[in-house]
Amino acid sequence: MTEQDFTPKSQTSNVESASVKWESPSNIALVKYWGKRENQIPENPSISFTLSNCKTITELTYTKKEGTDFSFDVIFEGAKNAAFKPKIQIFFERVEGYLPFLRDYHFKIETSNTFPHSSGIASSASGMAAIAMNVMSLEKEINSTMTDDYFHQKASFLARLGSGSAARSIQGPVTFWGKNAVRDSSSDLFATPFGTTLHSVFDNYQDTILLVDKGSKPVSSTQGHNLMHGHPFAENRFLQASNNLSALVPIMETGALDDFIHLVELEALSLHAMMLTSSPYFILMQPNTLAIIHRVWEFRKETSIPLCFTLDAGANVHLLYPKQDIGVIHSFIKEELSGFCQSGQYLLDEVGRGAKKA
Ligand code: DP6
Repeated sequence: MTEQDFTPKSQTSNVESASVKWESPSNIALVKYWGKRENQIPENPSISFTLSNCKTITELTYTKKEGTDFSFDVIFEGAKNAAFKPKIQIFFERVEGYLPFLRDYHFKIETSNTFPHSSGIASSASGMAAIAMNVMSLEKEINSTMTDDYFHQKASFLARLGSGSAARSIQGPVTFWGKNAVRDSSSDLFATPFGTTLHSVFDNYQDTILLVDKGSKPVSSTQGHNLMHGHPFAENRFLQASNNLSALVPIMETGALDDFIHLVELEALSLHAMMLTSSPYFILMQPNTLAIIHRVWEFRKETSIPLCFTLDAGANVHLLYPKQDIGVIHSFIKEELSGFCQSGQYLLDEVGRGAKKA
């Protein structure tokens, strides 16, 4: 597939107005995307768990209009929200070559998140995936012949142009994004599912997000990606991530949890090592992030229960563990780890199946 394959060839029907609603989950990377080229092409492949409970729900109402400007309103959690408009405007400009009908409609975009407003959880992945599914539904109305595979691939392609990691939120439970050595079907343009060889332990793997710092991040992901240009360790990091992904795939096929833990924690700390060694350097972890990591390591040593952590670009900690260990781990979180969270808050989530019509 090339980018040209996502430019519609013909318009088969004329659609006046309708509305459509999709919900899309967030995702958590196991091998991290950190560094990109022009047009949101990742420097290295990544792989993630698609989540289930942390999601964005977006309804798109479209009405045919005159004129050639983009026209849209954003309503966030019930109130008109001008702050989101520039993001959507940029998104529309980036994708209009692939959705030539965008200037023909006025859009009402009503959106909300299931996770708390200021939880420090980025909504860009779930939000961009939800809007991509909505505009694909409109394209399907116009060009009714498209296949399901094309629908998903193009939705992921469009979501990626909104926010790179959003590409991985369209499907689940585990997806790849970026050309890699282990799957011929993998692509830099869109995410693809892991497939049927995934070990069953990962079908319902748990993710509890410990909210260490609910404030906004001092350095955004986009700024962090940019700091990989000219980073002294960039080339080795991209190679390391590719090798880690190739090693992780057989581990996720056999369910070898000790090896899984080793690679996932190595990836989390390698991501933050890139931040520590950028110029300018920055630290997104907080003292309680480190306190939790140490406590997780002690717990694993004491109990041999396969609990591990990963981090995204922030201070919050994602705890990953098999469903069968929920009882002991939930008690541990409640009794010990919640003390390291802001207002004692954490979110219980698990691996999910991707975007769905709401
Ligand atoms: C650390 O997808 O948020 O979470 O493409 O600039 O929107 P943009 O960046 P974003 O970066 C995600 C970085 C990460 C790792 C990952 O999800 O793979």
